[in-house]
Amino acid sequence: VGEGDPAILTLPPHSTSLGKPVAANPYGVPSKYEGNLQRRESPGLTRVSQASVAFTPLQGLFGIITPSGLHFERHHQGWQDIDPAQHRLMINGLVKQPKVYTMDDLMRLPSVSRMHFIECGANTAMEWGNVAVPTVQYSHGMLSCSEFTGVPLSVLLEDCGFDKKNGKFVLAEGADGSSMTRTIDMSRALDDVLVAWGMNGEMLRPENGYPLRLVVPGVQGVSWVKWLRRIEVGDQPWASKDEAVHYIDAMPDGSYRQYTSIQECKSVITTPSGGQTLVGQGFYNITGLAWSGRGRIKRVDVSADGGRTWRTARLEGPVLPKCLTRFNIDWVWDGGPCVLQSRAVDETGYVQPKINELRAVRGTRSIYHNNAIQSWQVAASGEVSNVQVY
Ligand code: MTE
Repeated sequence: VGEGDPAILTLPPHSTSLGKPVAANPYGVPSKYEGNLQRRESPGLTRVSQASVAFTPLQGLFGIITPSGLHFERHHQGWQDIDPAQHRLMINGLVKQPKVYTMDDLMRLPSVSRMHFIECGANTAMEWGNVAVPTVQYSHGMLSCSEFTGVPLSVLLEDCGFDKKNGKFVLAEGADGSSMTRTIDMSRALDDVLVAWGMNGEMLRPENGYPLRLVVPGVQGVSWVKWLRRIEVGDQPWASKDEAVHYIDAMPDGSYRQYTSIQECKSVITTPSGGQTLVGQGFYNITGLAWSGRGRIKRVDVSADGGRTWRTARLEGPVLPKCLTRFNIDWVWDGGPCVLQSRAVDETGYVQPKINELRAVRGTRSIYHNNAIQSWQVAASGEVSNVQVY
């Protein structure tokens, strides 16, 4: 009863006028009202933006696929837009027949399409010692998930006749100025690694390695070499700068762990999350993402009391190996302060650790592989902030 809502009673111009023609945007773009949803750089994180990261806005995304324009970016030496007609992939080393492939050579081979997450080993790096960043975009946004299309690396290795007895490792090399190389052991290379040109149904974006990148499911992002130009087969790891000096885990006893590639099971609530404000007590859908570099997600539990009690969330299909899994759970907020957490379990039975459990093994000096349970505090005002609960 009352005057009625003018937004219902009065016809707006968009209901009484001619709309825009087809192909006004030959390549579609988001609504002007969605302009706030952007990849963002963390000011002051690195000295130059060419050796930096732009984080994915996880708080604004639905389902499990990251729109290509919001896929996180991490470059060591800036990105390039390489002419595919000029691009080549060489396979050499312990092979019967070293070969140089053009993009045309590669794209006529039998291809596959697979959905996988990619997470930088440094995701959540700033939170080892204490709370450092306000939002899930900055705490977990070095994470994206796409459908990748390409040829299995195993097909190319067979094509070159790799040495099955002595060929124990491959080295992947990028064509940018950063001399990015990573060793991958042969059993993984022959398993599910792709030499990919496609991302979400179209060619890779330049920022993500156009025209060719390695897809190494379950493994930290640094091994997903972009602008891929060379694969060498060898009999031992190369211990290149990006695996012997960088991307190593500082341990509490002063030693460093090398080649810790797998991204262990992890999850995070994306809504409600840091920087958001609840609009009053009552019903909310708590939603988030879970993933494991070792396979499928088996279960996600959610706590609204800082980890004292847990309820099991709904996993939304598809639940795929080494892929993001979306979870949802009903929640009625009583208007009081509380702490929200999610805890994922993968198909190996591994349970995502609390931050103090992780610190007991790994200390606080590390950068890489922080997969701790994330806590979001909801204040009585409805404001949500990043906290650490032990
Ligand atoms: N490959 C090359 N050639 N150069 C790079 O700087 N960065 C690596 C990896 N591959 C990098 C690269 C790192 S550290 C990560 S986390 C991922 O690419 C990021 O991939 P994205 O930019 O597509 O998100």
